[in-house]
Amino acid sequence: MEKVVLAFSGGLDTSVCVKLLQEKYNMEVITACVDVGQPEIEIIRPAQVANKLGVKKHYTIDAKDEFAEEFIFRAIKANAMYEGYPLSTSLARPLIAMKIVELAEKVKADAIAHGCTGKGNDQFRFESTIRSGSLCSIIAPVRDLSLTRTEEIAYANENNIPLPYDKEYSIDENLWGRSIEGDVLEDPMVETPEKAFEWTVSTENAPEKAQFLDITFENGVPVAIDSIKMGAVEMVTECNSIAGSHGIGRIDIIENRIIGLKSRENYETPGAVLLLTAHKALEQLVLSREELRFAETITQTYSDIVYKGIWHEPLREDLDCAIDNMQKRVTGLVRLKLHKGSIKILGRESIFSLYSEEAVTFEDKETDQREMAGMVKNYALQAACYQRVCKKD
Ligand code: ARG
Repeated sequence: MEKVVLAFSGGLDTSVCVKLLQEKYNMEVITACVDVGQPEIEIIRPAQVANKLGVKKHYTIDAKDEFAEEFIFRAIKANAMYEGYPLSTSLARPLIAMKIVELAEKVKADAIAHGCTGKGNDQFRFESTIRSGSLCSIIAPVRDLSLTRTEEIAYANENNIPLPYDKEYSIDENLWGRSIEGDVLEDPMVETPEKAFEWTVSTENAPEKAQFLDITFENGVPVAIDSIKMGAVEMVTECNSIAGSHGIGRIDIIENRIIGLKSRENYETPGAVLLLTAHKALEQLVLSREELRFAETITQTYSDIVYKGIWHEPLREDLDCAIDNMQKRVTGLVRLKLHKGSIKILGRESIFSLYSEEAVTFEDKETDQREMAGMVKNYALQAACYQRVCKKD
């Protein structure tokens, strides 16, 4: 019997895949759940479901540190954001696929399977990564059979497949955020029900009392909150809980998927919103105007690459080199105030600050202001010429 490793979350799609692979494809199924910081129950449950579905070998692969250090921290340095979405799901997919490839090699599997449908982005992300690292064939049972969600639920019921307790929305969670799709949310005029949210409180229910905090960055990545040093996973976890408790990080957008479909997406990404806001504030202080302008272009290209799932594209590595060089000076402290869904920057400081109080102050007597007259005189020379040549009546 041929062996297949299935990337398994214990959700509807991948649970249906287990049975299909066993019965329709006649394969020995090995399941693997990659821990990228989803809630603990989402790690425990897949093991139980796999067992119930008669899977002989289930693996749990801890990739939290790698996700935080190698993916989330790169995203922070790049200010990665796609159409207002901090790319939480997108960033985790290549890592999950890489771990599955490693396992497939270890167990000498003949194929790798995933539960993606034919309409989403994840099929691109998984397959491009798998093909960059393995010669295994790839099977996508839900896509192969063109199943709808209702058909999947019916198949699950017929085959005694345990369904997740909350099957109302399609949820994807990891350390960098929580993505919520489907059901009533498919109507873009329907306000997202309060019960869809788990990581954030509503602005109305956020505390009246503001919270002040200092975030320290070194080489573009956060290393301490209020001078307490912490590792990457702890840092992001802590920021999620602090910002979430103030109602920060709810995002509701119409997003352009890879295949061109527009989809309505809800996200809870409190830590990402907090850390990206702080990071940008520090960049304003230490990077030159030219660097800041160029960094915006980098952000755009980098985010598109991540969203499109082409993590192994050489341009991503090229951009990371440029980013890392620039980020050497993004070291310092940002002081913030969180209150009822808002983040205010109260202050920033850095040993690499390009800001000069002496130069900018209105009280300065040393600079001879008259020296500027020549520079100002021919400023906008072309605009003046254009007005003279084209706008005379
Ligand atoms: N639209 C997002 C992306 O492509 C999130 C998808 C989340 N998936 C889910 N099952 N809710 O990255």
